[in-house]
Amino acid sequence: MERLIDKLEKDRILSREEFALLISSRTPQLSEYLFEKARNIRHKYYGNTVYIRGLIEFTNYCKNDCLYCGIRCSNKNVSRYRLTKEEILECCRKGYALGFRTFVLQGGEDPYYTDEILADIISTIKGNHPDCAVTLSIGERSYESYLKLHEAGADRYLLRHETANFDHYSRLHAPKLSLQNRMQCLKNLKAIGYQVGTGFMVGSPFQTPECLADDLLFIAELMPHMVGIGPFIPHHDTPFAGYSAGTVDLTLFMLGLIRLMLPSALIPATTALGTIDPRGREKGVLAGANVVMPNLSPLNVRNKYLLYDNKICTGDEAAECLNCMKRRMQSIGYEVVVSRGDHIPENHSEPR
Ligand code: 5AD
Ligand code: FES
Repeated sequence: MERLIDKLEKDRILSREEFALLISSRTPQLSEYLFEKARNIRHKYYGNTVYIRGLIEFTNYCKNDCLYCGIRCSNKNVSRYRLTKEEILECCRKGYALGFRTFVLQGGEDPYYTDEILADIISTIKGNHPDCAVTLSIGERSYESYLKLHEAGADRYLLRHETANFDHYSRLHAPKLSLQNRMQCLKNLKAIGYQVGTGFMVGSPFQTPECLADDLLFIAELMPHMVGIGPFIPHHDTPFAGYSAGTVDLTLFMLGLIRLMLPSALIPATTALGTIDPRGREKGVLAGANVVMPNLSPLNVRNKYLLYDNKICTGDEAAECLNCMKRRMQSIGYEVVVSRGDHIPENHSEPR
């Protein structure tokens, strides 16, 4: 199996069968072998630095009904909220003072936020903080909408594909959503010129090693700038309440494989990873991640943006979260930096 990891490091791709075999043959020794390589590659591009993104969860209204997600429209137990433009700008002001240079506006698919409303918010943030990047994470929209928001100043877009296996996709989502449209959205975002992030959940119901192989093959084809993965964690008010969560070990293994495939990608150690293991984010960085995303949302809405159960950091001020993250990273020899943290283009001629 180590030979397969060597091959992945060299060729940056394996076949579907090889990926599936590698994933199902995972052992602690093999994982350590992978993580060491993943760390070395990450160090070549990013040294021991960790980029921070300030996450602003600005609406928990969602018109979709994804079976895994706590803020799905059928969940009537959610107390819904929307942040005003002023509240969002205030989060950015606070975040800027703390050293954040990227703001991620994340929300459910909420039709209230029209292109006009969003464009106004985005261009105001860019006007107030010209040295910052604005990332959107607001789901599927039309090509025209993505274009308008990009013209308003949005630099980056996060849209996880969730699973690249068509059969699996249909078992996680209501029939209104299709993997085909999801993939088209990602292509549109790239064509428009966004730095694009995709990703998937690890351990979601009905997932097989072949599904995960399909995820990796899709990522190799799309060549995104960012890849966010995290364990599936059940939410008690969803149809998947009774399923078990994805494991730390498999999530870390997938993270390491992605680092070998995309040496210079921006890969977050996610909140979900920190939720299933108290040192999950540290372990993520040690498996090849180079980004963390502390929460900048106002305290009074923190416990309303719950995609899954037991989410961490719901009671912490942005400053506390940031300090906690700095300490955590220092404890493993890494350093949180004040920077936009753009993707470093690869120099393919450089020997590896
Ligand atoms: N467990 C883990 N991750 C989840 N997400 C949504 N619901 C869950 C859950 N129950 C992830 C999805 C989405 C991102 C914002 O959060 O991958 O793209
Ligand atoms: Fe939020 Fe630790 S990162 S409290």
